Amino acid sequence: MDYPLFGPGRHLLSVSQFDKPRLRALFDLADAVRPLALRQGVCTVLDGAMLGSLFFEPSTRTRLSFESAFLRLGGEVTTTTGFTFSSMAKGESIADTARVVSGYSDVLVVRHPDEGSVAQFAAASIVPVINAGDGAGEHPSQALLDVYTLERELAARGHGLDEVTLAILGDLKYGRTVHSLIRLMGQRWGCTFRLFAPTGLELPAELVSEAIEHGHRVIVCDSVVESVTGADAVYATRVQRERLPEGTDGPAVGDLLNRSMLEKAHNLDIVIMHPLPRDSRPGAFDLSPDVDDLPGLAIFHQTDNGLAIRMAIFLTVLGVDAEQTRLTIKQRPWKADLHWDEDAE
Ligand code: NCD
Repeated sequence: MDYPLFGPGRHLLSVSQFDKPRLRALFDLADAVRPLALRQGVCTVLDGAMLGSLFFEPSTRTRLSFESAFLRLGGEVTTTTGFTFSSMAKGESIADTARVVSGYSDVLVVRHPDEGSVAQFAAASIVPVINAGDGAGEHPSQALLDVYTLERELAARGHGLDEVTLAILGDLKYGRTVHSLIRLMGQRWGCTFRLFAPTGLELPAELVSEAIEHGHRVIVCDSVVESVTGADAVYATRVQRERLPEGTDGPAVGDLLNRSMLEKAHNLDIVIMHPLPRDSRPGAFDLSPDVDDLPGLAIFHQTDNGLAIRMAIFLTVLGVDAEQTRLTIKQRPWKADLHWDEDAE
Protein backbone atom coordinates (compact mmCIF):
# COMPACT_ATOMS: atom_id res chain seq x y z
CA MET A 1 0.00 0.00 0.00
CA ASP A 2 1.19 3.54 -0.74
CA TYR A 3 1.27 5.98 2.15
CA PRO A 4 2.30 9.65 2.00
CA LEU A 5 5.87 10.55 2.88
CA PHE A 6 6.43 10.82 6.61
CA GLY A 7 6.09 14.33 7.99
CA PRO A 8 4.16 16.50 10.48
CA GLY A 9 0.68 15.20 11.22
CA ARG A 10 1.29 11.94 9.37
CA HIS A 11 0.82 8.37 10.45
CA LEU A 12 3.96 6.23 10.39
CA LEU A 13 2.81 2.86 9.09
CA SER A 14 5.49 1.64 6.69
CA VAL A 15 9.10 2.27 5.79
CA SER A 16 7.88 2.95 2.25
CA GLN A 17 7.05 6.45 3.54
CA PHE A 18 10.75 7.38 3.46
CA ASP A 19 12.87 8.60 0.62
CA LYS A 20 16.55 9.39 1.15
CA PRO A 21 16.05 13.10 2.08
CA ARG A 22 13.30 12.24 4.62
CA LEU A 23 15.48 9.56 6.11
CA ARG A 24 18.43 11.95 6.37
CA ALA A 25 16.20 14.59 8.01
CA LEU A 26 15.04 12.05 10.61
CA PHE A 27 18.61 10.88 11.30
CA ASP A 28 19.79 14.50 11.65
CA LEU A 29 17.02 15.16 14.14
CA ALA A 30 17.98 11.98 16.02
CA ASP A 31 21.59 13.26 16.16
CA ALA A 32 20.32 16.61 17.49
CA VAL A 33 18.39 14.98 20.36
CA ARG A 34 21.10 12.44 21.12
CA PRO A 35 22.33 14.50 24.11
CA LEU A 36 18.88 14.07 25.68
CA ALA A 37 19.08 10.31 25.20
CA LEU A 38 22.51 10.50 26.84
CA ARG A 39 20.89 12.39 29.79
CA GLN A 40 23.03 15.46 29.14
CA GLY A 41 20.08 17.78 29.71
CA VAL A 42 16.33 17.77 30.24
CA CYS A 43 13.78 19.03 27.79
CA THR A 44 10.19 20.31 27.93
CA VAL A 45 9.44 20.79 24.23
CA LEU A 46 6.44 18.41 24.34
CA ASP A 47 5.01 20.00 27.49
CA GLY A 48 1.23 19.43 27.47
CA ALA A 49 1.30 16.74 24.76
CA MET A 50 -0.11 13.29 25.47
CA LEU A 51 0.98 9.97 23.99
CA GLY A 52 -1.48 7.07 23.95
CA SER A 53 0.51 3.84 24.01
CA LEU A 54 -1.47 0.73 23.05
CA PHE A 55 0.32 -2.60 22.96
CA PHE A 56 -1.91 -5.57 22.21
CA GLU A 57 1.11 -7.87 21.91
CA PRO A 58 4.10 -8.46 24.22
CA SER A 59 6.82 -5.80 24.16
CA THR A 60 9.61 -4.59 26.39
CA ARG A 61 12.02 -2.33 24.52
CA THR A 62 9.67 -0.96 21.89
CA ARG A 63 7.02 0.14 24.38
CA LEU A 64 9.45 1.40 26.99
CA SER A 65 11.63 3.25 24.50
CA PHE A 66 8.65 4.95 22.82
CA GLU A 67 7.26 5.94 26.22
CA SER A 68 10.68 7.03 27.56
CA ALA A 69 11.30 9.08 24.42
CA PHE A 70 8.01 10.94 24.85
CA LEU A 71 8.55 11.50 28.57
CA ARG A 72 12.12 12.72 28.06
CA LEU A 73 10.81 15.31 25.61
CA GLY A 74 8.54 16.62 28.35
CA GLY A 75 5.26 14.97 27.26
CA GLU A 76 2.93 12.68 29.18
CA VAL A 77 1.99 9.07 28.49
CA THR A 78 -1.12 6.95 28.99
CA THR A 79 -0.73 3.27 28.34
CA THR A 80 -2.68 0.04 27.97
CA THR A 81 -1.20 -3.39 27.37
CA GLY A 82 -2.83 -6.63 26.22
CA PHE A 83 -6.40 -7.29 25.11
CA THR A 84 -7.47 -8.39 28.58
CA PHE A 85 -7.21 -4.88 29.94
CA SER A 86 -8.87 -3.09 27.03
CA SER A 87 -12.44 -3.01 25.75
CA MET A 88 -11.37 -5.15 22.78
CA ALA A 89 -11.89 -8.01 25.26
CA LYS A 90 -15.57 -6.99 25.20
CA GLY A 91 -15.68 -7.23 21.42
CA GLU A 92 -15.01 -3.59 20.55
CA SER A 93 -13.84 -3.10 16.96
CA ILE A 94 -10.45 -1.66 16.02
CA ALA A 95 -12.24 1.33 14.47
CA ASP A 96 -14.28 2.17 17.57
CA THR A 97 -11.26 1.77 19.88
CA ALA A 98 -9.16 3.96 17.58
CA ARG A 99 -11.74 6.74 17.41
CA VAL A 100 -12.22 6.72 21.19
CA VAL A 101 -8.59 6.70 22.31
CA SER A 102 -7.50 9.19 19.67
CA GLY A 103 -9.87 11.65 21.34
CA TYR A 104 -7.65 11.56 24.43
CA SER A 105 -4.14 11.76 22.93
CA ASP A 106 -2.07 13.80 20.48
CA VAL A 107 -0.32 10.81 18.98
CA LEU A 108 -0.80 7.03 19.32
CA VAL A 109 1.72 4.21 19.23
CA VAL A 110 0.03 0.89 18.44
CA ARG A 111 1.21 -2.73 18.31
CA HIS A 112 -1.26 -5.43 17.29
CA PRO A 113 -0.86 -9.12 16.34
CA ASP A 114 -2.68 -8.86 12.97
CA GLU A 115 -1.00 -7.70 9.78
CA GLY A 116 -2.71 -4.55 8.47
CA SER A 117 -4.49 -3.86 11.78
CA VAL A 118 -2.49 -0.74 12.63
CA ALA A 119 -3.40 0.77 9.26
CA GLN A 120 -7.08 0.08 10.07
CA PHE A 121 -6.51 1.71 13.41
CA ALA A 122 -4.99 4.76 11.72
CA ALA A 123 -7.92 5.05 9.30
CA ALA A 124 -10.31 5.61 12.22
CA SER A 125 -8.00 7.74 14.36
CA ILE A 126 -8.25 11.53 14.56
CA VAL A 127 -4.54 11.86 15.49
CA PRO A 128 -1.34 10.40 13.97
CA VAL A 129 -0.69 6.70 14.60
CA ILE A 130 2.74 5.09 14.72
CA ASN A 131 2.97 1.40 13.85
CA ALA A 132 4.95 -0.38 16.57
CA GLY A 133 4.53 -3.76 14.84
CA ASP A 134 1.49 -5.28 13.06
CA GLY A 135 1.76 -9.05 13.19
CA ALA A 136 4.18 -10.36 10.57
CA GLY A 137 3.74 -7.10 8.61
CA GLU A 138 6.05 -4.19 9.41
CA HIS A 139 7.93 -2.55 12.27
CA PRO A 140 9.08 0.76 10.77
CA SER A 141 10.59 2.40 13.86
CA GLN A 142 12.78 -0.69 14.39
CA ALA A 143 14.04 -0.55 10.78
CA LEU A 144 14.78 3.15 11.19
CA LEU A 145 16.87 2.57 14.31
CA ASP A 146 18.51 -0.45 12.64
CA VAL A 147 19.62 1.55 9.60
CA TYR A 148 20.67 4.49 11.82
CA THR A 149 22.78 2.07 13.87
CA LEU A 150 24.21 0.31 10.83
CA GLU A 151 25.22 3.66 9.35
CA ARG A 152 27.02 4.65 12.57
CA GLU A 153 28.75 1.28 12.92
CA LEU A 154 29.93 1.34 9.31
CA ALA A 155 31.02 4.99 9.59
CA ALA A 156 33.23 4.01 12.53
CA ARG A 157 34.93 1.59 10.09
CA GLY A 158 35.26 4.19 7.35
CA HIS A 159 32.37 2.86 5.21
CA GLY A 160 29.03 4.28 4.12
CA LEU A 161 25.74 2.46 3.62
CA ASP A 162 26.15 2.24 -0.15
CA GLU A 163 27.04 -1.15 -1.58
CA VAL A 164 26.84 -2.76 1.83
CA THR A 165 26.69 -6.56 2.09
CA LEU A 166 24.28 -7.62 4.77
CA ALA A 167 23.76 -11.21 5.93
CA ILE A 168 20.22 -11.68 7.22
CA LEU A 169 19.54 -14.82 9.21
CA GLY A 170 16.75 -16.62 10.98
CA ASP A 171 13.00 -16.34 10.68
CA LEU A 172 12.70 -14.31 7.51
CA LYS A 173 9.08 -15.32 6.97
CA TYR A 174 7.41 -14.03 10.12
CA GLY A 175 10.10 -11.58 11.29
CA ARG A 176 8.54 -8.17 10.61
CA THR A 177 11.74 -6.32 11.54
CA VAL A 178 13.47 -8.07 8.63
CA HIS A 179 10.64 -7.14 6.25
CA SER A 180 10.90 -3.47 7.17
CA LEU A 181 14.71 -3.53 7.15
CA ILE A 182 14.94 -5.07 3.66
CA ARG A 183 12.34 -2.60 2.34
CA LEU A 184 14.11 0.39 3.84
CA MET A 185 17.63 -0.69 2.81
CA GLY A 186 16.61 -2.20 -0.47
CA GLN A 187 14.94 0.88 -1.83
CA ARG A 188 17.80 3.28 -1.23
CA TRP A 189 21.24 1.75 -1.57
CA GLY A 190 22.86 -0.81 -3.82
CA CYS A 191 22.88 -3.67 -1.31
CA THR A 192 23.73 -7.31 -1.37
CA PHE A 193 21.52 -9.39 0.90
CA ARG A 194 22.91 -12.81 1.80
CA LEU A 195 19.94 -14.68 3.24
CA PHE A 196 19.82 -17.80 5.35
CA ALA A 197 16.56 -19.14 6.81
CA PRO A 198 15.58 -22.57 8.14
CA THR A 199 13.29 -24.55 5.81
CA GLY A 200 9.78 -23.10 5.89
CA LEU A 201 10.88 -19.73 7.27
CA GLU A 202 12.23 -18.22 4.04
CA LEU A 203 11.72 -14.59 3.03
CA PRO A 204 8.34 -14.09 1.27
CA ALA A 205 8.79 -14.16 -2.52
CA GLU A 206 7.33 -10.67 -3.00
CA LEU A 207 10.06 -9.17 -0.80
CA VAL A 208 12.75 -10.98 -2.80
CA SER A 209 11.27 -9.72 -6.09
CA GLU A 210 10.87 -6.19 -4.70
CA ALA A 211 14.56 -6.06 -3.70
CA ILE A 212 15.68 -7.42 -7.09
CA GLU A 213 13.41 -4.95 -8.92
CA HIS A 214 15.18 -2.17 -7.06
CA GLY A 215 18.48 -3.36 -8.47
CA HIS A 216 19.87 -5.16 -5.41
CA ARG A 217 21.49 -8.54 -5.21
CA VAL A 218 19.75 -11.26 -3.24
CA ILE A 219 21.78 -14.39 -2.58
CA VAL A 220 20.01 -17.29 -0.89
CA CYS A 221 22.61 -19.25 1.10
CA ASP A 222 22.59 -22.86 2.26
CA SER A 223 24.32 -22.20 5.56
CA VAL A 224 24.99 -19.46 8.07
CA VAL A 225 28.74 -19.68 7.41
CA GLU A 226 28.14 -19.13 3.71
CA SER A 227 25.86 -16.15 4.38
CA VAL A 228 28.23 -14.31 6.74
CA THR A 229 31.30 -14.93 4.56
CA GLY A 230 32.41 -11.58 3.14
CA ALA A 231 29.48 -9.69 4.71
CA ASP A 232 29.96 -6.26 6.34
CA ALA A 233 27.21 -6.87 8.87
CA VAL A 234 24.90 -9.65 10.01
CA TYR A 235 21.33 -9.21 11.20
CA ALA A 236 20.11 -12.25 13.14
CA THR A 237 16.52 -12.81 14.24
CA ARG A 238 14.62 -15.00 16.67
CA VAL A 239 12.20 -17.66 15.41
CA GLN A 240 8.79 -15.99 15.83
CA ARG A 241 7.27 -19.06 17.48
CA GLU A 242 4.09 -17.19 18.40
CA ARG A 243 3.34 -16.81 14.68
CA LEU A 244 4.04 -20.41 13.60
CA PRO A 245 0.97 -22.41 12.54
CA GLU A 246 -0.47 -24.48 15.37
CA GLY A 247 1.25 -27.84 15.81
CA THR A 248 4.60 -26.64 14.40
CA ASP A 249 7.47 -25.75 16.70
CA GLY A 250 10.17 -24.53 14.34
CA PRO A 251 13.86 -25.29 14.80
CA ALA A 252 14.83 -25.90 18.42
CA VAL A 253 18.40 -27.16 18.31
CA GLY A 254 21.74 -25.45 18.53
CA ASP A 255 22.58 -21.84 17.70
CA LEU A 256 21.53 -19.77 14.75
CA LEU A 257 24.84 -17.88 14.88
CA ASN A 258 27.82 -18.34 17.16
CA ARG A 259 31.48 -17.49 17.40
CA SER A 260 32.77 -20.66 15.74
CA MET A 261 30.63 -19.98 12.65
CA LEU A 262 32.15 -16.50 12.38
CA GLU A 263 35.61 -18.03 12.84
CA LYS A 264 34.93 -20.48 10.00
CA ALA A 265 33.82 -17.57 7.82
CA HIS A 266 37.00 -15.60 8.78
CA ASN A 267 34.72 -12.74 9.80
CA LEU A 268 35.13 -12.20 13.55
CA ASP A 269 35.06 -8.41 13.00
CA ILE A 270 31.63 -8.33 11.39
CA VAL A 271 29.01 -5.87 12.72
CA ILE A 272 26.52 -8.02 14.67
CA MET A 273 22.93 -6.87 14.90
CA HIS A 274 19.66 -8.32 16.25
CA PRO A 275 16.35 -6.55 16.97
CA LEU A 276 16.12 -8.41 20.30
CA PRO A 277 14.73 -10.09 22.31
CA ARG A 278 17.32 -12.83 21.91
CA ASP A 279 15.98 -16.21 22.97
CA SER A 280 18.59 -17.26 25.51
CA ARG A 281 17.11 -20.64 26.39
CA PRO A 282 19.45 -23.52 25.57
CA GLY A 283 19.04 -24.76 21.99
CA ALA A 284 16.63 -21.93 21.14
CA PHE A 285 18.25 -21.44 17.74
CA ASP A 286 19.18 -17.81 18.20
CA LEU A 287 22.28 -15.61 18.45
CA SER A 288 24.67 -17.21 20.94
CA PRO A 289 26.00 -15.07 23.82
CA ASP A 290 29.48 -16.35 22.94
CA VAL A 291 29.70 -13.50 20.38
CA ASP A 292 29.12 -10.84 23.04
CA ASP A 293 32.77 -9.88 23.46
CA LEU A 294 33.40 -9.51 19.73
CA PRO A 295 34.30 -5.97 18.60
CA GLY A 296 31.38 -5.65 16.17
CA LEU A 297 28.61 -6.42 18.67
CA ALA A 298 26.03 -3.67 18.07
CA ILE A 299 22.87 -5.13 19.62
CA PHE A 300 22.84 -2.74 22.57
CA HIS A 301 23.81 0.20 20.38
CA GLN A 302 20.59 -0.57 18.51
CA THR A 303 18.49 -0.46 21.69
CA ASP A 304 20.18 2.73 22.89
CA ASN A 305 19.78 4.39 19.50
CA GLY A 306 16.08 3.53 19.61
CA LEU A 307 15.54 6.33 22.10
CA ALA A 308 16.95 9.08 19.86
CA ILE A 309 15.17 7.72 16.77
CA ARG A 310 11.83 7.53 18.56
CA MET A 311 12.29 11.06 19.91
CA ALA A 312 12.92 12.19 16.32
CA ILE A 313 9.76 10.38 15.16
CA PHE A 314 7.62 12.18 17.76
CA LEU A 315 9.16 15.57 16.99
CA THR A 316 8.50 15.05 13.27
CA VAL A 317 4.89 13.97 13.81
CA LEU A 318 4.23 16.92 16.10
CA GLY A 319 5.96 19.42 13.80
CA VAL A 320 8.82 20.40 16.14
CA ASP A 321 12.30 21.09 14.76
CA ALA A 322 15.76 20.69 16.28
CA GLU A 323 16.07 24.42 17.10
CA GLN A 324 12.73 24.57 18.96
CA THR A 325 13.82 21.50 20.90
CA ARG A 326 17.22 22.99 21.70
CA LEU A 327 15.60 26.14 23.13
CA THR A 328 13.80 24.11 25.80
CA ILE A 329 16.81 22.07 26.91
CA LYS A 330 17.86 22.81 30.48
CA GLN A 331 20.73 21.70 32.66
CA ARG A 332 19.75 19.15 35.28
CA PRO A 333 20.78 19.23 38.91
CA TRP A 334 20.70 15.44 39.32
CA LYS A 335 23.60 13.25 38.37
CA ALA A 336 23.15 10.56 35.73
CA ASP A 337 25.71 7.91 36.54
CA LEU A 338 25.89 6.21 33.17
CA HIS A 339 28.56 3.81 32.05
CA TRP A 340 28.29 4.28 28.32
CA ASP A 341 30.59 2.54 25.95
CA GLU A 342 32.52 4.50 23.37
CA ASP A 343 29.83 4.39 20.71
CA ALA A 344 27.18 5.94 22.91
CA GLU A 345 29.40 8.84 23.91
C1 NCD B 1 10.89 -7.56 17.50
C2 NCD B 1 9.41 -7.53 17.23
O1 NCD B 1 8.60 -7.38 18.17
O2 NCD B 1 9.07 -7.65 16.06
N1 NCD B 1 11.23 -7.00 18.72
C3 NCD B 1 11.38 -5.64 18.81
O3 NCD B 1 10.45 -4.90 18.65
N2 NCD B 1 12.61 -5.18 19.02
C4 NCD B 1 11.55 -8.83 17.20
C5 NCD B 1 11.09 -10.08 17.89
O4 NCD B 1 10.13 -10.11 18.66
O5 NCD B 1 11.74 -11.10 17.63
